[in-house]
Amino acid sequence: MRYIAIVPAAGSGSRMGGDRPKQYWPLHGRPLLWYAVETLVSVPRIDAVCVVLSPEDTEWDQYDWSPLGSKLRTLRVGGATRAQSVANALSQLSGDMSAQDWVLVHDAARACLTVQQVDALIDTLSDDPVGGLLAMPVADTMKRADDGGRVGETVARDGLWQAQTPQMFRGGMLIEALRARTDVTDEAGAIEALGLRPRLVAADVTNFKVTYPQDFALAERLLATRGK
Ligand code: C5P
Repeated sequence: MRYIAIVPAAGSGSRMGGDRPKQYWPLHGRPLLWYAVETLVSVPRIDAVCVVLSPEDTEWDQYDWSPLGSKLRTLRVGGATRAQSVANALSQLSGDMSAQDWVLVHDAARACLTVQQVDALIDTLSDDPVGGLLAMPVADTMKRADDGGRVGETVARDGLWQAQTPQMFRGGMLIEALRARTDVTDEAGAIEALGLRPRLVAADVTNFKVTYPQDFALAERLLATRGK
């Protein structure tokens, strides 16, 4: 049984604006995508890290990725949605993968992921019948907006968690789940649609998704404190 990481990086990053996809915005002189991949290749139990690129990607080849070593490979099979990109990657990998292998799907934009967070996920889930995801209990009071940008309602936060990544499921189960549902915004959503209940593994706020320009400055400061 192996552990394989898939990093979907075929999005356009439209919420960030700018002239290139978010995953290639520079952060301490390297593309944003570099940092998540660097962490994943550094996890001893992970055997391969597969980055999913858009077939039209022209940025990847402009960088030297060789310092990240031989676990790294690229799959130019990105689709119209994140779920489709992951489903395409799994089809591509299915010949080299057993149904029992664990697949860890991680957002390219969660640049501040640490090896310790990945280890905690693997330690908690390696004997789990379903799999699960890093996530964080919601601390703030939650509001749903109406069409006019005013509070439509307050949503009870009891039991609410924010889903992060990596999300870790057996390859065979994930292929089946994504074949049935690609209208989901994360892998856990597809597994839930099979009637299964992924385990929530408590993470922390440092594993945030770089989404808006101001998040970028925060990621830079956090990585700087770790000497990156
Ligand atoms: O847009 P969002 O931030 O939710 O995207 C999450 C991840 O999925 C990003 O790493 C993005 O590059 C990836 N993605 C993808 N293919 C798409 C859309 C998003 O690989 N069609």
